[in-house]
Amino acid sequence: MSAELQMVDSRRYAPATERNRQPILDVLHKVLPNTGTVLEIASGTGEHATFFAPRLSHLHWLPSEPDPESRASVTAWVKALPSDNLIDPLALDVSQQPWPVEQEGFKLAQPITAIVNINMLHISAWEMCQHLMAGAQRVLPSDGVLYLYGPFKREGQQTAPSNEAFDAMLRDRNPNWGIRDLEAVSQVARKHALTLTDVIPMPANNFSVVFRRD
Ligand SMILES: C[S@@+](CC[C@H](N)C(=O)[O-])C[C@H]1O[C@@H](n2cnc3c(N)ncnc32)[C@H](O)[C@@H]1O
Repeated sequence: MSAELQMVDSRRYAPATERNRQPILDVLHKVLPNTGTVLEIASGTGEHATFFAPRLSHLHWLPSEPDPESRASVTAWVKALPSDNLIDPLALDVSQQPWPVEQEGFKLAQPITAIVNINMLHISAWEMCQHLMAGAQRVLPSDGVLYLYGPFKREGQQTAPSNEAFDAMLRDRNPNWGIRDLEAVSQVARKHALTLTDVIPMPANNFSVVFRRD
């Protein structure tokens, strides 16, 4: 088998990305800055990156993913659907400091002006939220945007019965996982110089959540 074919075979598919990508893109068009590089954290399969980059051609898109097999999928998607503004993925785990983009000698054509993080906070330990916010504080410029997408509790309450069942399933799989309370997430953000500016209800009981760096 040729190396190229192996790369193509690394592509993974997450059906939810096809359902949520257009509603997310509609919000990104409104909230992302007009210039710079968007650092995507937890890119997963890479399907979002290859969908968003050509549709946000005024920005550069930098995917990242800590899991080697998922990262191979991102690389394979980037290879299959290349875009001038789409960069190869970084190995970035929010809990490992410094992030690769902070390392000496790391260079980008355009500075990072936004961070996008889709469906990670409920499928990782609570500390990852703290690491994400600390990293956003270090990496984002003043007025830089942190965009989160996923299910959230509001004031400690689930927003839908389906989220309650999803939360129970997550905790069953890993006791450290679970749907986060948006107010608790915002409190952590505040400690890291990030101000909540928008909470936008999305299809299937999810939210787009936007923070801006002080
Ligand atoms: C449910 S998937 C979401 C992937 C993609 N954003 C999407 O919506 O299809 C959760 C992702 O979070 C990533 N993740 C988990 N812990 C992480 C961490 N500490 N730092 C960065 N990414 C992490 C996983 O590797 C996985 O790709």
